[in-house]
Amino acid sequence: MRLLVTGGAGFIGSNFVHYVVAHTDHHVTVLDKLTYAGNADSLKGLPEDRVELVVGDIANPALVDSLIAEADAVVHYAAESHNDNSLDDPRPFLDTNVVGTFTLLEAARRHNVRFHHVSTDEVYGDLELDDPQRFTELTPYNPSSPYSSTKAASDLLVRAWVRSFGVKATISNCSNNYGPFQHIEKFIPRQITNVLRGIRPKLYGTGENVRDWIHADDHSSAVLTILEKGVIGETYLIGADGEENNKNVVETILELMGQPRDAYDHVADRAGHDLRYAIDSTRLRTELGWQPQYRDFRSGLEATIAWYRENEAWWAADKDRVEAFYASKGQ
Ligand code: NAD
Ligand code: DAU
Repeated sequence: MRLLVTGGAGFIGSNFVHYVVAHTDHHVTVLDKLTYAGNADSLKGLPEDRVELVVGDIANPALVDSLIAEADAVVHYAAESHNDNSLDDPRPFLDTNVVGTFTLLEAARRHNVRFHHVSTDEVYGDLELDDPQRFTELTPYNPSSPYSSTKAASDLLVRAWVRSFGVKATISNCSNNYGPFQHIEKFIPRQITNVLRGIRPKLYGTGENVRDWIHADDHSSAVLTILEKGVIGETYLIGADGEENNKNVVETILELMGQPRDAYDHVADRAGHDLRYAIDSTRLRTELGWQPQYRDFRSGLEATIAWYRENEAWWAADKDRVEAFYASKGQ
């Protein structure tokens, strides 16, 4: 297959491209704008006859049309992805996540190309800490932030293009990913690189907020499974039963990096901060036979810490800018 992978120079998209090269014979064309979050170095070392990078915008209709005309399937990761940035400046989230997805859907419709839309569990809002229910494919949409509302909007566009125009699309909504190549604005790599720089980790609010962690490779295997076996028009939730509260994650990072477990600061909370996410991925497991491979969050975290330690050249240039942005908000 010839896959067009949007956002393939970002965190999860680049992990997906590495995974596809290692586990399939597919050819990959990456379409990526290389925003602050994209990094061509994340694709370094991949065989040139298997992976091609096209630098451009998913909201550019002519470019998107020409690339989709050549593809057998589109896997759509490109997005503005960070909640804190969406609180600061929502506009790019509308442009990329909504108009960009619309532009891709119109081209997929014209060329009758298979389309997989990568989305987030944040479209469902949040749960109480003691709620026995987890998110399922039937949970009503209730997004909290400018970021998650634009992802919810993009999911609804995909559903409408399936029903109205017969676009051959599937959707997945995944929980929080961790692993190599994640931008250092995000929680886990921010704290790891803080410790490496001698800066105390920063925990928003009380740190009781819960995220449901999954390794990026498990997300990739799930997306490939849905691409191969998913039913057109359907949504699949992706999760690996990895609930942890933020306080415990920071303390574990400190411990694994040889620091006292309490050597962190509480900082200003995020506006509208979602309390808890938790995924029930029964459907994906029972109907499509998918299983996560990474069962031990602590050892996954240890490997991720080792990756940031060994790849300082990949992240160092952006560290001062990211910390200055957070400092300006008291975070
Ligand atoms: P990321 O911010 O690391 O990467 C996004 C990529 O998209 C970057 O390479 C960027 O250059 C590119 N991009 C942005 N705007 C573009 C545009 N207009 N045209 C072309 N390329 C553009 O994001 P991520 O964390 O890898 O997330 C990827 C996708 O997965 C997103 O759709 C996100 O909503 C979804 N998702 C993320 C998580 C998570 O935990 N990070 C969980 C579930 C779903
Ligand atoms: O659930 C899936 C979502 O996970 C994706 O859709 C998003 O693209 C992705 O960014 C992620 O969103 P979160 O907002 O959950 O991730 P983030 O890494 O920004 O924060 C994780 C938790 O850690 C959250 O509760 C906020 C908190 N946090 C974050 C930062 C950056 C801190 O306590 N300190 C920090 O410095």
